[in-house]
Amino acid sequence: MDARQMKIKAAQVALGHVENGMRLGIGTGSTAEEFISLLAEKVADGFQVQGVPTSERTARLCLDLGIPLMSLDELPELDLAVDGTDEVDHNLRLIKGGGGALLREKIVAKASDRMIVIADETKLVDTLGAFKLPIEVNAFGLVATRLAIESCADRLGLTGAIELRMVGNDPFYTDGGHLILDASFGRIPDADALSSHLHAIPGVVEHGLFINMASVAIIAGPAGARTITANSLQEH
Ligand code: A5P
Repeated sequence: MDARQMKIKAAQVALGHVENGMRLGIGTGSTAEEFISLLAEKVADGFQVQGVPTSERTARLCLDLGIPLMSLDELPELDLAVDGTDEVDHNLRLIKGGGGALLREKIVAKASDRMIVIADETKLVDTLGAFKLPIEVNAFGLVATRLAIESCADRLGLTGAIELRMVGNDPFYTDGGHLILDASFGRIPDADALSSHLHAIPGVVEHGLFINMASVAIIAGPAGARTITANSLQEH
């Protein structure tokens, strides 16, 4: 099974959790896109969902494939969000935002009764942090905000470069018009502390640590998919 097939497998298992008529948060990224393709096939056969996309990119794909969409303001309470992740640990803490959609992804996940994360097994880690932590910041005061993040990291014993995300020669802008600083901490032993400290910095709009948000992770490997919840593990 190659990487794409593992993503499809995780997406298939997640689709089994989606019930007819659900209000569904729809994630961003290559794994979420496999889920969107499978969901679109069911919708074409008459299955009904109301989707709320987590990015403009996801919105475009859903519309192209015929998945009915609403805005989060029209549908502020959702039954389920299904999204990919950049890292997931065994306590279902996540790093997200590799695709730059972390703010909308977190707002949608918070508005959902449950969040299911889908990933191939390369995303499952013992300790978060090998993947660069995306931190979405306001463009105003970028230098001051970056210094504040460095100082916060220092206090927590975290080291590593904190780099402005670029697209070619230009800064990357999120759907919300903000910038992203990617922090190469390597290991984040205390994700809860880092999350609280980052939230206390005014220029930080949001960060990519998702803590106590995912209720289920579906992790696909060559032998099939495992479902990890806070207390259990099932094989598919
Ligand atoms: C988007 O901002 C991210 O949070 C994605 O969910 C994450 O990067 C996973 O993407 P892939 O499924 O493409 O790895």
